[in-house]
Order: sequence, then C-alpha cells, then structure tokens
Amino acid sequence: MKELRIGIIGTGMISGRHMTVWSNIPGTSVVAACDIDEKKVQDFGEKYHIPKENLYTDFRQMLKRDDLDCIDVCVHNNLHTPVSVAVMKAGFPCYSEKPMAATYADAKILYDAQKTYQQKLAVQISSIYNLQTRLAKKLIEEGKLGKLYHARSVGHRREGRPGLDMPFFSRDFISKKIGGHGPLCDLGIYHLAQMLYIMGMPELESVYGVSSADYYLDKRMLPKGLAYEVEDLSAGLARFKGGISLDIYEDWAMHIDDVGSSFIAGSLGGLKLIDVDQTGGDLARPKGGGMIIGGGMVQKPTLEFYGYEEGIMVSKVIDCQLNGRKEAMVNPRISLYNDNQVHWAAYVRGDLDDKDRIDSPYIAMQTALLSEGIFLSQELGRSVSAGEIIEKSVSMAVRKQETPWGIIEYDF
Ligand SMILES: NC(=O)c1ccc[n+]([C@@H]2O[C@H](COP(=O)([O-])OP(=O)(O)OC[C@H]3O[C@@H](n4cnc5c(N)ncnc54)[C@H](O)[C@@H]3O)[C@@H](O)[C@H]2O)c1
Repeated sequence: MKELRIGIIGTGMISGRHMTVWSNIPGTSVVAACDIDEKKVQDFGEKYHIPKENLYTDFRQMLKRDDLDCIDVCVHNNLHTPVSVAVMKAGFPCYSEKPMAATYADAKILYDAQKTYQQKLAVQISSIYNLQTRLAKKLIEEGKLGKLYHARSVGHRREGRPGLDMPFFSRDFISKKIGGHGPLCDLGIYHLAQMLYIMGMPELESVYGVSSADYYLDKRMLPKGLAYEVEDLSAGLARFKGGISLDIYEDWAMHIDDVGSSFIAGSLGGLKLIDVDQTGGDLARPKGGGMIIGGGMVQKPTLEFYGYEEGIMVSKVIDCQLNGRKEAMVNPRISLYNDNQVHWAAYVRGDLDDKDRIDSPYIAMQTALLSEGIFLSQELGRSVSAGEIIEKSVSMAVRKQETPWGIIEYDF
C-alpha cells in the first residue's frame, strides 16, 4: 500500500487527537505541518518527529509542496472555509474539522468548492461513523419504527464553556469573529448531523428557535475580565418535508442536572441514543491508554429500542460494542465506516468511491442550514423557512487574518 503523505494546518488542541488517530492508521503519515504561531508548530514538529524544513508558519508555502497527498485542516470555525477552499484550489484533497462553517453561506461556499476545483472533501463528524448510527439507520430502513414523526437532538453540560470554564480549550470557541456561534456549532453539530443522517436527510421546511447567553450575562456568574461573545444555549423546533419534526436543545452551561437523550419516535417504535460519539472512538485513544484529547474517555454509544412485540410492550438495550465486534468479523470492510479519518484515507486512496462514502460535506452543510435557522429565528423573533435561511445567510468567514508575522488575505 502506498503511503498517504499528509500535511496538517493548525497545530492546536484538536490536531493532537488527529495525530493519535493518524498514528493508528497503517500507511498514513503526517510529514508537514503549519501554524501561524511559530513556537506551536516547532513544538509540534519536535513531538511528532517532523523535520524542521517541513514546518511552516504560512500554509500557502506548505501548499507549494508536490509531495503531499492530502491536507488535514485543524484551524477554527470561521477559518474552515477560507483555508479549506485555498487547500482545494491549490490542488489537494481536504479533510476539514467541524463545524463545516458557522453559517450556511460559508458551508455552501466550501461545499461548492469541491466541484469548482475537482477535489475531494470531508468534514469531521465523528457521531456518524459508528454502529449506534448505522443500526438506528438500518432499523428505520427496515421499517421497525414505522412512520417517523418526531425526533429530539440533545446536548448538555452542567458548566462547560470551552475557553472559559474549560480554560485549556481555545478561547476562539467563545469569540464571535473566529468561533462564530456557541454550543450548536460545537457539540451540537454531532447531535444534529447524526439525527439528520439517521432520518435519511429529510428536507428542511422551517425552524423556530431561540438562543441565549443569560447564564453568562448574569454578572454574579461571570468570571472576571473574560470576554464571551456567543450563546450558551440554543433550542428550537424544525419541520421537515414528509411530516417529521425535530426538537433541538444544546447548551454549554445550565443550572440543571440532566436534559435527557436524543431519540427518534415512529408509529411502531422508538429509539433512544445514549452516549452519542463526539470523541472519535478507539483509534483516538492514545497508545498505552488514557484520555482522548479534548474529549475525555472513550464513549460507549448505545441504543435503546421501545415498541411492541406480539402485543407486548418491550424496552430493549442494543449493545453496540458487542454487535460491532460481530459485524467486524463478518464484514472486515466495515472498519472503513468506523472512523472519520479511516474513511477519509480510504476515499482519498480510491478504496471508497463517491457512491460508497458517507457524504459528510452534504450532511454538514444541511446541519449548518438547520443551526443557522435557529439563530435567524432568534434574531427575527419568528419562525423562518429554509428558503429564507438560504437567502438571508451572511458569511462570517475570515477574509483577512492578522498573524504574528503579517496578514493573510483569503480569496474564496
Ligand atoms: N478542541 C477540541 O476538543 C475539538 C474537538 C473537536 C473539534 N474541534 C474543532 O477543531 C477546530 C480547532 O479547535 P482547537 O481546539 O484545536 O483550536 P486551537 O485554537 O487549539 O487550534 C487552532 C490552531 O490553528 C492555528 N491557526 C489559526 N489560523 C491559522 C492559519 N491561517 N494557518 C495555520 N494555523 C492557523 C492557531 O494558531 C491554533 O494553533 C475547531 O473548529 C473546533 O471546533 C475541536
């Protein structure tokens, strides 16, 4: 197998998790890296044994290399579109972190760039690469839930605003200019994207939503001297063609212990999704064990089925780990669907074609449409149609970036 030579852009927190996963995928190696912060990229090079001559502070210089097969983009939200479009324009396949972008307008620009520059693109959405998601999809496709009519997408932290209550996370998460939005553009995308994908990507009709930063804005709760510019709660209700609705709840902080789990309800049965994956599973675990970078311990996504069997109401736990091991024995190729980066590497190599791969850019773009509907509805104080969200979406992507060594102007 020919080695896949990867260049990485952005050597902050999440790049460490990407590196763990790359080190667990045979036939891949990260051979070049870039960060606008010289010390960061030098430290990264030292830690991961990347020669000094392959380290850059300007990614445009790195993209002049002719020995890279693809680029892994680990910069922050409002930089995903500018940097990832530049990557594809320079002739490289691109794997970009989540969210695809903080706005629908930017997600669409990135989506369209695949076609314009004839390059492959994927967006990190770890929640759709596991058996919890596959089994839920399969049960629905086999009709076990009957007609779907309502689903719920949920994410909650008692107090976990990145960069504020969790100071080891980048403060860019809570900056409007770079992060764009709060929890819905962070963990929310894992929950929303998973729901849309499981439900078969229903077409959005309209959204009613609210967002708030009231937890933060109460001065008695406010850590001194820290600027916080995004929401700490977003909630909403979306309607889709075909009569399906989805209620959405996503916070980074709330004085409440538990807000329940995501679920999907149909006329014949319901599925509850416990411990939705947002860490990337086993390959993200550092060799020798320990915490997953940025995500804590490995999660154990589980499904619960509620319905009738022979006239009796049943509640069943579906052990996704156990079923996953069995699935892997019967179909070794399924491993290509158990991790974002494995899936991406197989797609770049041509082991997965457009028909067989999970279309993460499309899923991520539809997720951006839905989350932006909630922000727009909050702004206008009424429900908004999908057409209106598309029409009113305004780019937040960075066009001119000040760096420690000068200015990068983006053209996209
Ligand atoms: N931290 C996590 O646990 C986590 C988990 C999943 C996904 N993500 C996503 O990953 C992205 C990055 O998050 P992070 O926590 O690693 O942030 P971070 O701030 O730690 O890292 C981003 C890095 O990008 C660098 N950078 C900025 N502009 C650049 C440019 N033009 N060229 C090269 N480097 C540039 C910054 O200097 C910084 O080192 C975000 O979009 C986030 O949503 C983060």
